[in-house]
Amino acid sequence: MTLPNYDKGVTQTRADRKTFDDLDLASFQRHVLDWYGAYRRDLPWREDPDPYHILVSEVMLQQTGVQRVIPAYHRFLRAFPTLRSLADASPANVLRSWHGLGYNRRAINLKRAAEVVGTTCGGSLPTGVLELELLPGIGRYTSRAVACFAFDVQVAVVDTNVRRVLSAFADCRLSEKETEELAERLLPEGRASDWNQALMDYGALASRGRARRTNKISEPFASTNRFWRGRIVDALCRHPALSVPALLSELPYPEKNEQRVRGLVLALHEEGLVEYDRGQDSVSLPA
Ligand code: ADE
Repeated sequence: MTLPNYDKGVTQTRADRKTFDDLDLASFQRHVLDWYGAYRRDLPWREDPDPYHILVSEVMLQQTGVQRVIPAYHRFLRAFPTLRSLADASPANVLRSWHGLGYNRRAINLKRAAEVVGTTCGGSLPTGVLELELLPGIGRYTSRAVACFAFDVQVAVVDTNVRRVLSAFADCRLSEKETEELAERLLPEGRASDWNQALMDYGALASRGRARRTNKISEPFASTNRFWRGRIVDALCRHPALSVPALLSELPYPEKNEQRVRGLVLALHEEGLVEYDRGQDSVSLPA
């Protein structure tokens, strides 16, 4: 299928457009939905209506690409097939099952969300955007995605891919607010779920100039706290407990800075991602 005119980069650097009235919304909708009919990705969470499974997929997809999420999604749901089993699991086991995805705080927040659902929502995920957004780790994007994909709530779901596609369509760099406004206008009646997923696939596969993700760890990334926090949790997934010197020897690069690692361990401890026993100078995953 050719991609006539929505596949271009943005030519205007600033949105001086005040309205979207000149845009042909209907033909853009038709184009994207036709494209989706032909090239829709078969993703496991699309074939599975369980709201908990959709929540897991959306939290994983917050910062991780589809190809890395698919095996992790299956592995995680084998370990924790229900919200209840996740609520009852130890944080250490949840972090082990999250292994390879990074941004580990998502895993702890997901477990906390499962606990909150168990204690305050009668064990079932709430269906509305606002109620979902009250759960730990669920922001504006994820609450809308879950409400729409799990409960067919008719709302626009806007991520950076969608913003880029709609900016190309409008031919100006849209702010987040403008993107949401245009996305709401574009929702085809009663078809929000299909439409939002179509736009996501279109952004990921068809639209030019997409940000290419790479699994390679670049040196600038390796110097960030986020990188080292991830490596610390990885090391603790492999060992029940480590002294800080032993933890240092488990980290991947030779030029390690003990003071920095100690600071990161204390921060991870504060956030509930690891346990640090000051007396023993020993670090472990939370029991
Ligand atoms: N990215 C975030 N959510 C997604 C979904 N449901 N399908 C494809 N890509 C996504």
